[in-house]
Amino acid sequence: MSVHSAVNRSPYHLGFCTLDSETSLEDLPVRGTVPPWLTGTLVRTAPAKFEVGDRGYNHWFDGLAMLHKFAFTGGRVAYANRYLRSRSYLEARATGRISRGEFATDPCRTLFQRVAAWFSPKFTDNCNVSVNKLASDVVAYTETRMPIRFDPDTLNTLGGYGYDERIKGPVSIAHPHLDHSRGRHYTYVLEFGRRSKYHLFGIDQGTGREAVVATLPAERPAYMHSFGMSERYLVLAEFPLVVNPLRLKFSGKPFIRNYQWEPERGVRFHVVEKKSGQVARTARSRAVFAFHHVNAFEEGDEVVVDIVAFPDSGVIDQLYLERLRSAEPVMATGKLTRFRIGSRGDAPDERLSEARIEFPRINYRCRAGRRYRYVYGAGNEVQGNFIDNLVKLDLEHNATSSWYEEGCYPGEPVFVATPEAADEDDGVILSVVLDAKKAASFLLILDASSFRELARAEVSHHIPFGFHGNYFVETSGPESFRELHR
Ligand SMILES: [Fe+2]
Repeated sequence: MSVHSAVNRSPYHLGFCTLDSETSLEDLPVRGTVPPWLTGTLVRTAPAKFEVGDRGYNHWFDGLAMLHKFAFTGGRVAYANRYLRSRSYLEARATGRISRGEFATDPCRTLFQRVAAWFSPKFTDNCNVSVNKLASDVVAYTETRMPIRFDPDTLNTLGGYGYDERIKGPVSIAHPHLDHSRGRHYTYVLEFGRRSKYHLFGIDQGTGREAVVATLPAERPAYMHSFGMSERYLVLAEFPLVVNPLRLKFSGKPFIRNYQWEPERGVRFHVVEKKSGQVARTARSRAVFAFHHVNAFEEGDEVVVDIVAFPDSGVIDQLYLERLRSAEPVMATGKLTRFRIGSRGDAPDERLSEARIEFPRINYRCRAGRRYRYVYGAGNEVQGNFIDNLVKLDLEHNATSSWYEEGCYPGEPVFVATPEAADEDDGVILSVVLDAKKAASFLLILDASSFRELARAEVSHHIPFGFHGNYFVETSGPESFRELHR
């Protein structure tokens, strides 16, 4: 574990410190009762190594990825963790140096190496953002086109997941969608050039075959971390944090530092029909920034797009590690905001809740792309205290429930439906929580309906704060492969 000055550090700084050890623990101490029907595995990815040799990474999004899993059987909980053997990780370990450019950290390069990098850039495959099922594989994602396949039982790294080489572009996203009714994943890659392009494409859930849905020109590509999906449409929201691709190539600055906030551009929405690939609608709204789309659906003539919005991109600056480890207050959460894209080219918005929220999750399997009622998220109760609670928003009754415990810092709440679920919120919430008082983490299980605690399973060490995970169940069909339960 790295050592930071004891003075002037945040109470949650341990969540931004390296965890070196890889462990496997069979039977965690459990307080409360784990529902017996919970028999799957929560797998998460998270940055866990923040220094290589004598250099530190700069930003929360940069740390080397570690996989964590919590497996549930008969009311018991097992835990294991393992570093993802990405090229970024293996090269760093072999050379003792940061070898690939991350979100806000670049390797030290000689002039010759910088010139070489212009011609043959080495993009990162440090998949520390999310995990998901992709066709027949379970993969970890970062924001390049280089997801990594791994075994969710052993957490062993299996190798890269290669997208079709004919679909060009180095940058992608860690939040693909899955349209269950079409049996198709959707994602995109961004191709930089004199005329940059977003290539939206589908991946057949059964065969893994890829097909371009639409290609959209991007004069100044935007930083986007996710996109929206309704029943018929894919929705790109170009926030006004944009880049001149030439700067990316020649500035010598880390990736995100080439992007500029240009609020006068507003947000540009592009609504693309899945079936035809036609741009059905474009619209512009006032400027906001966001990482996460929550859901989208069609209502009358409107496409409704729900987003966790921030007033500007300043949140990215707050998430530098030095700031996060310091006592300086951090506001890392936004507010759930609804944009209505009509036929007139504008997209008026309204705030759906005053609760602070990030890492939004819904009952995805039942409600993705459709009108929905509940949003779960990690939020903020004490002003400036990073992310310190879990919230449930009831959009029908404009009501908020929350879970808060002093000195505890929860991560993304993953919703898992009960096997016989009748209501949208029949299920549990799983969240990894840092208990700063004990300098250790636990897996929290809440009843999703009442938002009351059912159980917690305690790990003896800290788990660095991560971003996203998913719950997987074993299927009993003839192929017996693991299916993502979401
Ligand atoms: Fe995300």
